[in-house]
Amino acid sequence: MSTSSEHLIIQGGKPLRGSVGVSGGKNSSLAIITAACLAPDVTVLDNVPHCRDVLTLQTILEALGARITLAEGRMTIDAQPVSRHVAPYDLCRQMRASFYTAGMLLGRLGRAQVPLPGGCVIGSRPVDFHLRGFAALGATVLTEHGYVRAEAPHLAAANFFVPRSSVGTTINLMLAATLAHGTTVLENAAREPEVVDTAVFLNLMGAKIKGAGTNTVMVEGVRELHGATYSVIPDRLEAGTYLIAAAATGGDVLVEQMIPEHIGALLVKLEECGAVVERNTDGVRVRAGGHLRGVDVDTAPFPGFPTDLHPPFVSLMAIADGRSTVRETIFESRFGYVDELRRLGADVRVEGDTAVVNGVPFLTGAPVQAPDLRAGAAVVIAGLAAQGTSVIAGVENIDRGYERIEEKMAALGASVQRTTIGTEPAAAVAG
Ligand code: EPZ
Repeated sequence: MSTSSEHLIIQGGKPLRGSVGVSGGKNSSLAIITAACLAPDVTVLDNVPHCRDVLTLQTILEALGARITLAEGRMTIDAQPVSRHVAPYDLCRQMRASFYTAGMLLGRLGRAQVPLPGGCVIGSRPVDFHLRGFAALGATVLTEHGYVRAEAPHLAAANFFVPRSSVGTTINLMLAATLAHGTTVLENAAREPEVVDTAVFLNLMGAKIKGAGTNTVMVEGVRELHGATYSVIPDRLEAGTYLIAAAATGGDVLVEQMIPEHIGALLVKLEECGAVVERNTDGVRVRAGGHLRGVDVDTAPFPGFPTDLHPPFVSLMAIADGRSTVRETIFESRFGYVDELRRLGADVRVEGDTAVVNGVPFLTGAPVQAPDLRAGAAVVIAGLAAQGTSVIAGVENIDRGYERIEEKMAALGASVQRTTIGTEPAAAVAG
């Protein structure tokens, strides 16, 4: 884990080769760990990634009373003692997914006082849809002094249209509605694999949820839930990051323990660029020799091209042949990486909601910043592809969602070192 002064030093220009295993899904884990606290019981989760957001959530839930341990991907959650309904302000401000505690506490305790959440700086990211949903379930909802206060001694089922197919709203309302009276119907629900994973887990806890993965999710309220044992799905965004890095460095990488259908839209785009993509029972292998072609991408809700892979994909387009565009349709200001890529020599500009890229023959290393999680992945990929040395600051943003990124990249032959500024790099890493 990093402190704020940690940096990644990358000697770029080496093709990534070999195989890498993906960790458990960060976004799935955040929802499922919170869901586990709906039951006054013990849950055991496997494949939980050791990343900063998971650890922050652990501390938040411990503040509510839960007892949690995490070792080697296994998290044990004793949610029996959860009794406090006020979530810690400063920790919740750091992370969007902390707001899942609102749905959980409403369902479990009938009241929640949860700070307005923070998270990556990629747009305004309000929680108005979540609040409308809680109100539809019969909660009184009030925002004051930076907290959302929601109260409903008895949640009642509702029919609710989820605006913009919001992932977080769909999950938060599933959490709250599992213990409501009657059957809640969520129309225009998000279909992301993380929604399905959460629903599968909740059903193992005794919930009655149907339709997850379609636009209509039905949640029949039950009187109580119990603990469960479950393994979180692989992280499709981490998998996508390694596949893009393989293509950007002209490498040959097998990404293991991933579910190809979870990032089908990326695989199609990589093929369109000219990379060779093999889907097999071990995972997905991407091979790229020489320059790829620039292609146009629009981000979209699942099964479309994931917004979280937009910044890493622009790094690939930066060194692909010709002009390409990446249009962002989910978050309005997800372009914090553009200035950093320019420092590395990329020809990228933002026109409205679109990154317009003119591919250059090569990038050159430079000191750059990881302004947020996925923008951080983008600068790492660009640094790996660039000639010379890049020094990446803001590593704590990358650590929010990537487990041991420098070790995994180094195992593929990259030269990546983590260091604290003012000290010599701790160890020379392969490559
Ligand atoms: C989840 O965010 C993910 N986060 C994001 O991943 C991901 O980019 C996003 O879904 C889209 O796939 C987690 O799972 C923790 P939304 P979420 O609600 O749930 C607007 C990462 O890098 N909106 O589907 O917050 C919102 O601003 C992160 O791992 C409202 O206006 O996304 C956005 O424009 C970054 N009001 C759109 O809806 C609301 O109340 C969709 O957001 C809720 C959302």
